Amino acid sequence: MTQTLEAVRAVAERACAAPTNAFGYGIWTHHIVFVVSFGRELSLVLGADAEIVELAALLHDYAGIKDVRLEPEHHRHGTDEARRLLGALNYPPERTEWVAACILTHRASRGLEPETLEARCVASADGMAHIAQVPSLLRLAYVEKGLSVGAGAAWVAAKLRRSYGKLCPEAKGIIEARYHAALETLETA
Ligand SMILES: [Fe+2]
Ligand SMILES: [Fe+2]
Repeated sequence: MTQTLEAVRAVAERACAAPTNAFGYGIWTHHIVFVVSFGRELSLVLGADAEIVELAALLHDYAGIKDVRLEPEHHRHGTDEARRLLGALNYPPERTEWVAACILTHRASRGLEPETLEARCVASADGMAHIAQVPSLLRLAYVEKGLSVGAGAAWVAAKLRRSYGKLCPEAKGIIEARYHAALETLETA
């Protein structure tokens, strides 16, 4: 692991562990870690720059984790945070912009299309992490949103469909079996 990656990983995990993180430490163990790992896998498959993908994966939700008021526009605030953090680590400015672009376009719902291979890896890895972490989505539906069994399952199924829809074909290939298995289970509720 490069020094920059090591430093950014420490900062990202520390933010997840902080009492001010409204999502709890689970966002590290059950989301960020998965986005990093799927991002790595996709960067190999697509021939993308693995360091750029991993830095962006570590920081893609960082703004909302640091301050929940930034959550609605966390993809935009995240680019400022990445510039500040990577600037302080003397990371090359052109590579920093490459990372920032991945963070900006990681949310399919915001209509900003990933423009580089690396940005495609991060957006897809984010969607794959949701599909691989159905229990976290169920917790959100039943505990945090207080939905009924049927409504919660329908909410999670809709979220999975949206996540799957935004994946690049290579990512769909990797996660397809798990996606269909999860939908099948949710549709019996
Ligand atoms: Fe996000
Ligand atoms: Fe995310």
